[in-house]
Amino acid sequence: MAAIVEVQDLIKNYYMGDVTVNVLKGLDLVFDEGDFVSLMGPSGSGKSTLMNILGCLDRPTEGNYYLRDRDVAKMTDNQLSEVRSTYLGFIFQAYNLLPQYTVVENIELPLVYQGVPLDSRTKDRCIALAEMVGLGTRLDHRPLQLSGGQQQRVAIARALVNDPQVILADEPTGNLDSRTSVEIMQMLTELNKAGKTIIMVTHENDIAEWSRRVVRLRDGLVESDVRNEHPLGFR
Ligand SMILES: Nc1ncnc2c1ncn2[C@@H]1O[C@H](COP(=O)(O)OP(=O)(O)O)[C@@H](O)[C@H]1O
Ligand SMILES: [Mg+2]
Repeated sequence: MAAIVEVQDLIKNYYMGDVTVNVLKGLDLVFDEGDFVSLMGPSGSGKSTLMNILGCLDRPTEGNYYLRDRDVAKMTDNQLSEVRSTYLGFIFQAYNLLPQYTVVENIELPLVYQGVPLDSRTKDRCIALAEMVGLGTRLDHRPLQLSGGQQQRVAIARALVNDPQVILADEPTGNLDSRTSVEIMQMLTELNKAGKTIIMVTHENDIAEWSRRVVRLRDGLVESDVRNEHPLGFR
């Protein structure tokens, strides 16, 4: 399989006054196209810092980051936002939906941020995505009228609207009960079977069992990197 995401000797420091916090200490990681990876590790080990860099929301202090053949670490802010909107989809623990907007409008949001004009064709696409995640009868509902699992399904549909190659999910089931978590993991498994590369942070072993590979960070370095030959959704 071809590499789709690759970081080399990735270093991230935060500078607080005269104190330097060295969070990522030289990470080397290659994620193949079509893989489904769990990032694990104790609190403070650098998972969110790495996800923010992979998501082009933050830049490494040193090191290289390649998305396919594109050298992300050297990009301007405009290039980064273009990469974000064409290659990447985001799913967050707290769903991050806008409460005043309907299901369909929330799914449309990445298009709005990208400056894509909304028309009947984009609307039909968003409705189709809402149907795909099982919310075809909730198109005009607002987030607060939905359960947590339904809100996360809206967020999944929103992450798909640009047809991204890579989906980054930071604790996507962190706020959900175990039954609803299974539904969300089944959905992510279907997306992975359809070819999407998924990189997911979780601290739950039950959730990591759905992925094909588990990378554990500790103190800014890779502690272990293990393939899971029998992910839950593929048994
Ligand atoms: N903006 C920041 N400024 C200073 N230190 C930070 C910042 N963000 C994170 N850190 C520190 O970096 C370390 C790793 O944080 P984080 O990546 O959030 O870990 P994780 O997601 O694995 O819990 C922690 O010690 C945290 O305090
Ligand atoms: Mg975190």
